[in-house]
Parts: sequence; structure tokens; C-alpha cells
Amino acid sequence: MIVRFAKENELTKINELRKQLHEIHTEGKPEVFKSGFPDELRDHIYTIWNDPEQEIVVADCDGSICGFVVLNHILKPETPYMYERDYLDIDEFCVDKAYRRQNVATKMISFIKDYARDQGFGRIELNMWEFNCEALDFYEAVGFHTYRRYMEMDL
Ligand SMILES: CC(C)(COP(=O)(O)OP(=O)(O)OC[C@H]1O[C@@H](n2cnc3c(N)ncnc32)[C@H](O)[C@@H]1OP(=O)(O)O)[C@@H](O)C(=O)NCCC(=O)NCCS
Repeated sequence: MIVRFAKENELTKINELRKQLHEIHTEGKPEVFKSGFPDELRDHIYTIWNDPEQEIVVADCDGSICGFVVLNHILKPETPYMYERDYLDIDEFCVDKAYRRQNVATKMISFIKDYARDQGFGRIELNMWEFNCEALDFYEAVGFHTYRRYMEMDL
């Protein structure tokens, strides 16, 4: 298995994984995420592909795309409250159901860390939904820790 940047002719396969990921979100937070995988969401992969601030990384398991990640370079200007923030954000992250618990995601994180260091980033961030305990277990297993929380109250 190798981890590398995606090729344009792989975007359709990547969309199959984006669909799996979206289903997890629609099941876990149905009041927030729209169900289904409409054309607009499918075609959003081309917006990502064409954005110079974003990169798509894939795990290639013997010629089959078994995982993908979307990376986004975020630059938040200084405000009266905060210093400028410049970091690499992990936006979408999914390993194909058939390939989970085989270290695919761990290898993608290693690739991302090397890339982030090469690009001069001082930190990697991501946000995730609280219902997704498996993702939290994974992110903590590879060294992420929580530094901020979103809270809600149903009325
Ligand atoms: C979360 C996800 C990316 C992990 O991918 P993976 O390739 O299976 O992860 P790895 O095999 O590299 O796991 C490394 C370690 O993370 C932890 N881990 C991974 N998946 C876990 C799970 N389902 N439950 C508990 N711990 C888990 C374990 O410590 C694991 O080590 P181990 O297998 O030796 O116990 C994958 O389950 C996935 O794609 N889930 C659906 C999409 C998703 O939720 N993405 C995140 C959205 S924010």
C-alpha cells in the first residue's frame, strides 16, 4: 500500500468513499447533514480538486483506492483577540470499509505529517462530530488531542 497525491482520473472512486463518509454523518447527525449524495455534493470534489489551497491524498492498495483525505491550507488573519493562525486542516478523511483496521489511516497520517513539515506548517488540525467515537479513538491513537469544543442544547 502506498500513500500519494490523487490523480484526476481517481476522483470518481474517491467519490465512492466520500459517499460512505457522508452516510456516516447523515446517520449520526440527521438534523444537520442532508441525506443522500446528490450531484451537487458529488461534483464538489472538482471544486476541491481545482482549489490551489486544497490537496487530495489517497491510499493506493495494489491499484485500488482504499482511502482518501482532503487537506486544506487555512490562513486566519490576526484579529484583536487572536494572533494569525496558519495551519493544515484535515477536512475529509475516510478508509474504505473493506480496508479498515489495517493501518491504512495511520499511514495516511504519517504522509500528511511529512508533507506538513515539508511545507513549513507548525500544526495540523481537524474537527469531528462527537457521535463518531470510532474516529475519535483513531485520531487519539495517532496523537491528536482535543483543544476546543462545540456544545449544544436541544430546545
Ligand atoms: C476512522 C478511520 C479513518 C480509521 O481508519 P483505519 O485505517 O481503520 O485506522 P487504522 O487501522 O490506522 O487504526 C489505527 C488505530 O486507531 C484506532 N482505531 C481505528 N479504528 C478504530 C475503531 N473503529 N474503534 C476503535 N479504535 C480504532 C486503534 O487504536 C487502531 O489500532 P489497532 O487496530 O492496532 O487497534 C476509519 O474507521 C474510517 O474511515 N471511518 C469512517 C469515516 C470516518 O469516520 N472518518 C472520520 C471523519 S471525521
